[in-house]
Amino acid sequence: MLLALETSCDETSAAVIHGGRVLASVVSSQIKLHAEYGGVVPELAAREHLRNLIPVTRAALTEAQITTGQLEAVAATRGPGLPHALMTGFKSAQALAFVLRRPFLGIHHHEAHLYSPWISGKPPVADFAAFEPNVSLIVSGGHTMLVHVQGELKHRVLGSTLDDAAGECFDKTGKLIGLPYPAGPEIDRLAEKGNAAAFDFPRPMINDPSDDFSFSGLKTSVRYFIRDHPGLLETSAGVSDLCASVQAAIIAVLVKKTVQAANRLGVRCVTASGGVTCNRSLRRALASACQAQGLKLRLAEKELCTDNAAMVGILGERKLSHGSTGNSFNEDIRPNWPLAEEPIAAR
Ligand code: KG4
Ligand code: ZN
Repeated sequence: MLLALETSCDETSAAVIHGGRVLASVVSSQIKLHAEYGGVVPELAAREHLRNLIPVTRAALTEAQITTGQLEAVAATRGPGLPHALMTGFKSAQALAFVLRRPFLGIHHHEAHLYSPWISGKPPVADFAAFEPNVSLIVSGGHTMLVHVQGELKHRVLGSTLDDAAGECFDKTGKLIGLPYPAGPEIDRLAEKGNAAAFDFPRPMINDPSDDFSFSGLKTSVRYFIRDHPGLLETSAGVSDLCASVQAAIIAVLVKKTVQAANRLGVRCVTASGGVTCNRSLRRALASACQAQGLKLRLAEKELCTDNAAMVGILGERKLSHGSTGNSFNEDIRPNWPLAEEPIAAR
């Protein structure tokens, strides 16, 4: 039985894992708190984690019907993330493991995202028997990257965004339109009613052979487009068409580059996770592109796309079963921890 905590950004989450099964997963989102400020306020996030951590952990233990004495290990996100936010979950988990005399695991947040598409069902179970080498797209508010997952716990970063993340592009575009933060879900909703071919926005780096992305230029072209079409935002059809067209540009780049990387590497499986993977049009576009190319696709379930401790715990347990003895109690958080540095199972 393993307890995992996740506090890297604006979700306080605790999960209990046993034998690849998610016995409990509790997520307390701070979205409402930060919406007022149009983005995550790091100081407020850390204070909110401190307030929520014990109730959320207690709820997870109750849901799993266990006591702390039954825990065999404790894991927490070590980075990357907001320093003070990370510290709350990481140090709490370390202290608990120390008192219980159990191994402690500091987990890389993005490495955890890499395995979230393999967790599914109700209750969720990690299906590592089905695991196969893949190209994994991680798309969230802070990150956009393509990773070659060569085997279990073995990966190599192929490329990432040179500026804004895809989720950031959704959020910043939404701000220009006047939508509340985070705008991704709202753009998703409005775009369903719009015409994606109404306006032609640039698809940055779509023909670039590298696996890198760039989204800040797209956001800037949306700004000029709105300036040059003053009546556009006054009709709901105009707003929906704008949302659908911008969304289509973002998705076209994500899908093309993901499939391109898989084909180049001769990998037959594609996975995707991170908050933007909740986007319905992205899910459909990935599904049809992969089908056309004969690629298998595993999308993280929507509840596991956004930040959660279940994926942290599943990876922590997997590391233990691959021979990891855990991390030292002296280790600290790593707010800028690069994923490329974490390819070895036993670390
Ligand atoms: O993974 P996540 O919860 O947090 C991190 O950034 O780590 O991702 C949040 C991001 C936000 O930018 C949000 O706008 C975006 O994911 N997002 C979406 C959708 N749901 C969340 N973007 C597009 N369509 C959605 N349905
Ligand atoms: Zn994340």
